[in-house]
Amino acid sequence: ELQRRHFLHTWDLVTAVPFFQGLGAAAIADIVRLLRAREVAEGTIIVRVGEPGDAMYFIVSGEVTVQLTSEPLMLGPGSFFGEMALLFGTPRSATVTVTKPSVLLVLDIADFRELAGRRPEVVNLIEIEGKRRREANAAMARF
Ligand code: CMP
Repeated sequence: ELQRRHFLHTWDLVTAVPFFQGLGAAAIADIVRLLRAREVAEGTIIVRVGEPGDAMYFIVSGEVTVQLTSEPLMLGPGSFFGEMALLFGTPRSATVTVTKPSVLLVLDIADFRELAGRRPEVVNLIEIEGKRRREANAAMARF
């Protein structure tokens, strides 16, 4: 019963994220099984620049700030972060701090790999954005 309630709760959180809304119920059910919801207080550092990546995060509510070398960048509900280290095997490219009390959905690296096998279409969407960010940062570094 507890597990069922947990599933339904995570389901509600996942379907609130626009990124997942185009997916069918079967794909959403797969994702819900892999995600863990986490409430995070303002000021919490989620990801530190230079560290190896062990998870990525979807923002249900609240706000995080990505400490880019150029200027800080705010991400809000529906965005995700921490995908680059998982996709490219690189150290964390920036520190990410929670700047408003937030609800995040956590996808651990092992589950990310499982999702890539089961639902490549979802990970492809994440990869498109990850590549765009990598390009943007590289262009900024050359500037
Ligand atoms: P990762 O490198 O794993 O950890 C830091 C995260 O910050 C990174 O993944 C992205 O999710 C995010 N990030 C880095 N650069 C950008 C950018 N230019 N725009 C948006 N998010 C970024």
